[in-house]
Amino acid sequence: MQESATILGLESSCDDTAAAVVSHSRGNLATIRSSVVFGQDGLHSKYGGIVPEIAARAHASRLDHCTEIALSEAGIQLRKIDAVAVTAGPGLVGGLLAGVSFAKGLAAGSGKPLLGINHLAGHALTAVMTHGVAFPYLGLLVSGGHCQFHAVLGANRFIRLGGTIDDAPGEAFDKSARLLGLEQPGGPAIEKAAAGGSPDRFSFPRPLAGREGCNMSFSGLKTALLRERNALAGAAGTLAAADVADLSAGFQAAVRDVLAEKSHRAFSAFQACVGARATVFAASGGVAANKGIRAALEDATRQNGATFVAPEPKYCTDNAAMIAWAGIQRYRLGLLDDLSLQVRPRWPLDEKSAPLTGSGKRGAKS
Ligand code: KG4
Ligand code: ZN
Repeated sequence: MQESATILGLESSCDDTAAAVVSHSRGNLATIRSSVVFGQDGLHSKYGGIVPEIAARAHASRLDHCTEIALSEAGIQLRKIDAVAVTAGPGLVGGLLAGVSFAKGLAAGSGKPLLGINHLAGHALTAVMTHGVAFPYLGLLVSGGHCQFHAVLGANRFIRLGGTIDDAPGEAFDKSARLLGLEQPGGPAIEKAAAGGSPDRFSFPRPLAGREGCNMSFSGLKTALLRERNALAGAAGTLAAADVADLSAGFQAAVRDVLAEKSHRAFSAFQACVGARATVFAASGGVAANKGIRAALEDATRQNGATFVAPEPKYCTDNAAMIAWAGIQRYRLGLLDDLSLQVRPRWPLDEKSAPLTGSGKRGAKS
């Protein structure tokens, strides 16, 4: 087995077009040689949400430029990399097809192996790339389309311990921001508005808190926010800035408390499942960029005698370095794909566990 590997990663599963080059030699931390992300917020903002067709076209037209920049910033030519890793799912089918088709072209043209990566594995393994965390560890993936606790046993072995039964927190942040007239993505907008607000003015529910297990629910929170908003807005239909700040702070505190309470239960679930205490709790995904939520998760981790790890925000949100890194793992395990690689718009990390959200779940990353 080769001691060092350098992989080009590509990501286009939602609304970020990304390319990155990551190198790794055994016994060392990974080197992220470049990580380029072209966001699409400006393209979708006037529609109030991601328009899949617009996203797919933007990916198709930007992937080559994004890749050129990633290779040039890394100071490497395509012929010098070991393989091309691309997100093959889950996500929006048009964006996935754009990425996988582009990656196939690169792999065929350069004669390099192709690796189809699960986007969720990219998020879940980021802590190994950024902090050198060892398996097994307790992972929380908390993003725009997902919210799951996992026992991460290896680069290709995940056991789901629990997750949301309806909305993902990022989705709840985005929908709530829309209700409050804030910009998208809603998470950072609510975090900013919440900084000037009181979390105690409104008593938002903490769904499923106190209940056994580490399943979660966030859709009721958004409904509670809608009710408060409507009561405040009255006939004029407008909210004062102080109301937006207090509603944001109250909402964020509720999400934070649910995630923290369920993290305690996830530590117990990990022990029951793995037969040993989790010594590391690693959070990943866009919502893990939220400072208040990170602090609460860190607190819960300390109370369980473990170490909390969360990547810096740019590696929490969608990026291609995590895809390149997951690619390095699969490359080393010999799990190569070929030009018959298919996209998988639905692709659970733990394929043995039954879906929690049912087949009716909608959304970009359902
Ligand atoms: O991981 P990600 O970039 O894409 C998915 O795979 O979903 O996560 C995006 C989600 C969005 O819903 C966004 O509002 C949320 O992460 N997010 C945040 C923050 N930054 C991004 N939520 C709360 N606080 C933040 N600072
Ligand atoms: Zn993501």
